[in-house]
Amino acid sequence: MTAIRDWVAFWDNPHSIYVNARHADVHYRDIATAIVGYLPGPNARVLDFGCGEALHADLVAAKAGSLVLSDAAPRVREHLASRFAAVPNIAVASPEELRGRPAAAFDLIVANSVVQYLDRQNLDGLLAEWRRLLAPGGTLIVADVIPPDVGAVSDLLALLRYAGKNGFLVAALVGVARTAVSPYRKLRSTLGIARYTEPEFFAILDHAGFTAQKLAKNMEHNPARLSFSARAKETAAGR
Ligand SMILES: C[S@@+](CC[C@H](N)C(=O)[O-])C[C@H]1O[C@@H](n2cnc3c(N)ncnc32)[C@H](O)[C@@H]1O
Repeated sequence: MTAIRDWVAFWDNPHSIYVNARHADVHYRDIATAIVGYLPGPNARVLDFGCGEALHADLVAAKAGSLVLSDAAPRVREHLASRFAAVPNIAVASPEELRGRPAAAFDLIVANSVVQYLDRQNLDGLLAEWRRLLAPGGTLIVADVIPPDVGAVSDLLALLRYAGKNGFLVAALVGVARTAVSPYRKLRSTLGIARYTEPEFFAILDHAGFTAQKLAKNMEHNPARLSFSARAKETAAGR
């Protein structure tokens, strides 16, 4: 295993964030279902940015025109490419490859549980890139943003509730103990994790040229985290 010095290396290596296969399966099914709920129509061109293993991306592809899965972790991309090789409207791209795509290439861009792993400069750079990639009228969903007052206890209770509802409570209790001594905890204390209040994140989106609204419900299981839906502001030049 390579040394883990940054978040992308963490996600590129085996980890135990999902406490068992059922947790990963339920999580990615819920993510796919949520993305389907955001689709503007059956021909939508969708980008799932920082998609992780996206185990059920085929459910999104079945309801959309096309789906690009993008993640910075090379091994994650290898898994995705082999998992979805037989799905003709799914493509896998690195963030660098996305920069070579034409403007206005997507009707919906989703980044769930990604911005907490970015420093402010990277976040601003990605918001500019997503704005370039969004077609006029397209939607950006930035989800699972962590407010400063939402800490480990909130995450723990949300996970246990989710596990209880989905039949993996015992595995979650074991997993929680394992995570407490895992590289994830160590990285969280050394690299930190980005947190934003609701007004701060609105201001960041506004500065990046988006008008935004907070979604009534976070995209994933911790209701204390925030999800935003944003559209590029119209400019005098048209965009
Ligand atoms: C917590 S996982 C979220 C995965 C997925 N979006 C989900 O909802 O389950 C964070 C993912 O973001 C990816 N990631 C982190 N920094 C990134 C960056 N700068 N560019 C692209 N992907 C990134 C990681 O490799 C990891 O797969």
